[in-house]
Amino acid sequence: MKLFDVYPLYDVEPVNAYDSIVVDKDGTEYLDLYGGHAVISVGHGHPHYVKKVKEQIEKIGFYSNAVQNSLQSELADKLGKMSGYNEYQLFLCNSGAEANENALKLASFYTGKSRVISFENAFHGRTSAAVAATDNTKINSPLNMQQNVTFLPLNNLDLVQKELKKGDVCAVIIEPIQGVGGLDEGTTEFFKRLEKLCKENSVVLILDEIQAGFGRTGKFFAHQYHGITPDIISIAKGMGNGFPIGGIMIAPHIEPSYGMLGTTFGGNHLACVAALSVLEILEMENLIDNAKLTGDYFMSEAIRLPGVKKVKGKGLMLGLEFDFEVSDLRKKLIYDEHIFTGGAMNKKLLRILPPLTIGKSEIDQFIKALQKVLVPKKI
Ligand SMILES: Cc1ncc(COP(=O)(O)O)c(C=O)c1O
Repeated sequence: MKLFDVYPLYDVEPVNAYDSIVVDKDGTEYLDLYGGHAVISVGHGHPHYVKKVKEQIEKIGFYSNAVQNSLQSELADKLGKMSGYNEYQLFLCNSGAEANENALKLASFYTGKSRVISFENAFHGRTSAAVAATDNTKINSPLNMQQNVTFLPLNNLDLVQKELKKGDVCAVIIEPIQGVGGLDEGTTEFFKRLEKLCKENSVVLILDEIQAGFGRTGKFFAHQYHGITPDIISIAKGMGNGFPIGGIMIAPHIEPSYGMLGTTFGGNHLACVAALSVLEILEMENLIDNAKLTGDYFMSEAIRLPGVKKVKGKGLMLGLEFDFEVSDLRKKLIYDEHIFTGGAMNKKLLRILPPLTIGKSEIDQFIKALQKVLVPKKI
């Protein structure tokens, strides 16, 4: 059987990895400033993570959600404490799209309404309601387009107010910093007033922290830069450092009932241990502070590079906007300089989403490589 060919692939095959380094089958080492799309949070093959996951699989890897699994409450406890959302409730699933799917479904159950407000250039995943709330018609099939979603520009509160007043909206879903869309973000004033408008109109505010969360931006959650408290926070990616796990954190006023949400694999023993060990490493190694410090250093260095129009993002969720399309630049960085970077819907944006363990030396290596590739050849 052939693979269903949906991914345009770079000609590199990683077979090994440690910390921020990925090694291909010929033994060539690459600096991973992409983190497998913002997934590798505490570094590839972190010894504590490997030990914990290994120990767990030797005991029990999976059993269904029909029986007790105290690892789930241990994870909920630690996540609540570290993120400042101790009083919230955790529902566990397996991916980012699934997290948003459950968030939107829950908002609809809670309000009895069905229209969703999303934002231009948003990306929330590829399943039913999540993809409908994603601003990309190419990945929405006619089936998905049946959902009732209105896309608004970021930072336009008048339009949000006008839509919410119509009374048919169940949820506003928003990324604190857009990932796939290209690192644009709302202002603090926008987020604060959005929170207020949602409250006034009994609409559920969902913050999609799937990419920005788990310390990537220098705070546990990126929306914490704005001093808001959403009704639902969706999480995945860095949560498991590569082990598939996602979830939603739900405010206490949204009450559960048996059967309302459910999943076979979500919250299994291995996934919980992977996420718990990620939290332990974030704490032990002060990686959230490191993300802030290293990100600030990157910003100060990168703005001096030739051709860079703008440096966007926060912490280690970063974008470099050039005055040209970056696909050739990304190829040169991989094949000539052995550095992985990311792209975005904005074709002129190079994305940097490394493990949160990187420091100044990796940034210096990247800046030097960019200078080499950019200056003489003027891509
Ligand atoms: C902000 C955001 N939400 C949701 C998703 C979907 O996550 P997943 O690919 O795990 O379904 C992504 C993935 O890139 C994302 O960046």
